[in-house]
Amino acid sequence: MSKRMDLTTKLRQKFVLDKIYGSDWNAGSSNPLVVELDTTEACDLACPGCISQDIMVTNNRFSNERLLELGKEFYESGVKAVVLIGGGEPLAHPAVGDLINYLGSHDIHIGITTNGTFIKKYLKEIAEYSNWTRVSVDASSVGLFDKLRPSKSGKSKFEFIVENMRMLAEVKTGKLGFSYLVQTEADGPGVHSNVHEIYTAAELAKDIGCDYFEVKPSYQFREDIEHALMKHDSSLMQEAKAEIERLDELETDNFSILKAINLAYSLEGISEDQPKNYSKCPATELRTLVCPSGAFVCPYWRGKDNMNIGNLHTTSFADMWSSDRRKEVMDYLDPGKHCSFHCLRHESNTTVIDLVESAEKGEKIETIAEYDRFI
Ligand SMILES: C[S@@+](CC[C@H](N)C(=O)[O-])C[C@H]1O[C@@H](n2cnc3c(N)ncnc32)[C@H](O)[C@@H]1O
Repeated sequence: MSKRMDLTTKLRQKFVLDKIYGSDWNAGSSNPLVVELDTTEACDLACPGCISQDIMVTNNRFSNERLLELGKEFYESGVKAVVLIGGGEPLAHPAVGDLINYLGSHDIHIGITTNGTFIKKYLKEIAEYSNWTRVSVDASSVGLFDKLRPSKSGKSKFEFIVENMRMLAEVKTGKLGFSYLVQTEADGPGVHSNVHEIYTAAELAKDIGCDYFEVKPSYQFREDIEHALMKHDSSLMQEAKAEIERLDELETDNFSILKAINLAYSLEGISEDQPKNYSKCPATELRTLVCPSGAFVCPYWRGKDNMNIGNLHTTSFADMWSSDRRKEVMDYLDPGKHCSFHCLRHESNTTVIDLVESAEKGEKIETIAEYDRFI
């Protein structure tokens, strides 16, 4: 049976509860457990409607030396997992292979969100150390792929990416995922609907040897609408729902269908605000985002000056985390005021708040064994 992602059960793992109960929630955590890292703000693809297109104008990246130092600083700070993401294309950074080797050999778990074009180059490192590698594909045919994920060079990368995924499927030790961002013309100039290829893309994912197929909703990213879920044509969403309902029949013990936390809201056309009745964001104490253009409280605020907690080119990770600037931003950040969009971490936040309240009342909290560092 396909399932909606579950981010809250993970919070009951011992290492997370130790962090939750070991933190002074007025002062903030001593370190995050998970770092999302944009190695570079450059990409070899030019996807219309890309949420990061405003960030990628400078092609900014960490120097090779600084990237490797960051890995060491994460380790020394007690970070448990790093997601290599973008921004741009994380595997386009020339030192990313060394970074993967360093993190993996220091027992930091690694997740990679990639367009798939550099998998062959780093096959050995990824196969050995990536706990999950999720390739953004969004189509099952070369024609649609080339419209949604064109390369800057103009040459189609579809077949190459599929081949890369097949190669990785043969040798990987972690999981391989196929990401499908449901898009329509509403996503902006140049974007085409891909709802009719959801099912065939899942068949392709299974044929490649992926462990899972993930269906995700698209977000708007205009300055004046902070990350509202995109509002699509309702008949297209009906078609998408019909495709998604059929995905269950493809599931096996080795192939799962995952539905992103906010997918149902998008399919039902619910794009209204998601009110928050809490004024601090625990998720941003447990996770953080490090980019060449700054460190930010979370990916929803990537590139936004008012949520920029430091410059990691010139400041160490530990110094950034304990800085006055970060404290200032954390004091300012109020989900009740700033985060009215459908946030992926909303349920995680309410769960942490409940866990802290329960502990204050002296209630016993059952811990579960570690099974996933990517909280
Ligand atoms: C910006 S990409 C960067 C990482 C890598 N280059 C890749 O293609 O996966 C990260 C993720 O953002 C998602 N994304 C891009 N535009 C989006 C949008 N408008 N709304 C929601 N997600 C989006 C993509 O599906 C992709 O999985």
